[in-house]
Amino acid sequence: MTGLSDSFQRPINYLRISVTDRCNLRCIYCMPPGGIKHLPRSEVLRYEEIQAVAQAAASLGINKLRLTGGEPLVRVELTRLVQMLSRIDGIDDIALTTNGVLLRQCAASLREAGLRRVNVSLDTLKRERYRRYTRRDRLVYVLDGMAAAKEAGLEPVKVNVVVMRGINDDEVLDFARLTIDEGWHVRFIELMPFANGASLQFVPTKGIEERLRSLGTLEPCLSSQGSGPAKYFRFPGVKGTVGFISPLSEHFCFNCNRLRLTADGKLRPCLLSDYEVDLKTTLRRGASPEELKALIQQAVAAKPERHHLMEGVFPMGRAMCQVGG
Ligand code: 5AD
Ligand code: SF4
Repeated sequence: MTGLSDSFQRPINYLRISVTDRCNLRCIYCMPPGGIKHLPRSEVLRYEEIQAVAQAAASLGINKLRLTGGEPLVRVELTRLVQMLSRIDGIDDIALTTNGVLLRQCAASLREAGLRRVNVSLDTLKRERYRRYTRRDRLVYVLDGMAAAKEAGLEPVKVNVVVMRGINDDEVLDFARLTIDEGWHVRFIELMPFANGASLQFVPTKGIEERLRSLGTLEPCLSSQGSGPAKYFRFPGVKGTVGFISPLSEHFCFNCNRLRLTADGKLRPCLLSDYEVDLKTTLRRGASPEELKALIQQAVAAKPERHHLMEGVFPMGRAMCQVGG
């Protein structure tokens, strides 16, 4: 294996695959108020096409995959895709980021198909608040879905909490307590200003850390599967962990290892830049593996050094639910 690296000598070994732009929730920071116009089904990559991209990527040195959305579990027969991907030579980790609503039904079969772990997006533990900010009353399903994931051995289950001032920042202590009492793995994420979330305010990681001091001293620790931008800590003697993902207050781009494939077959070297390489057109012309590899290399070569959120430069081309976070 040659290994893939970009023009800033960053090794690229991780591909996030958005399998759909549809979602069964309507989170305020993700979906624009009017909703998004969904891709016609014919524009969405078929599983065989995703497999071809993943195969080409693996032959270049990608060894980790993550399925995202929209909400990946609303796509029909996702288990079949997981099976197809887990058979690819060189892929040794497949994970899923989900809102958890449909996890109870699929957890066991996903595990059997080769899925290793799940991250669940959950921004509040209060039912009424959940209903208001996701525009659906599904909190009970999510909590049950997380239990199902654990039962199925999809571990560690990590909980992603996007912290927003005045909306859920009064719950950071409640989430942190669950790392002590229930062994949860919680990651607090600074809200990134996408066009549709412009009126929402992020809370800097430092502010969250300060609030957590009342629960004890956080000790740095390694994640069990750490290669992402999160920094992990735990309260002394407990099983659960607290992670921080700080796209705004800290520049983590220097060790970014990822590419993103959108549901409509565009390869995006950076979440926060609108630059994309079109794979779908080539795929549908009957691309050879060599052609796909060349396009993947083109995207990697164009990977920007870092994002410019703090300078007020936001990607405008797509909503978060169209890229997959
Ligand atoms: N800023 C930070 N995180 C976000 N996510 C979605 N939109 C944003 C945003 N604007 C998170 C979701 C999910 C992951 C895929 O990305 O909550 O956990
Ligand atoms: Fe759906 Fe996740 Fe976006 Fe919420 S954050 S609308 S759950 S894709």
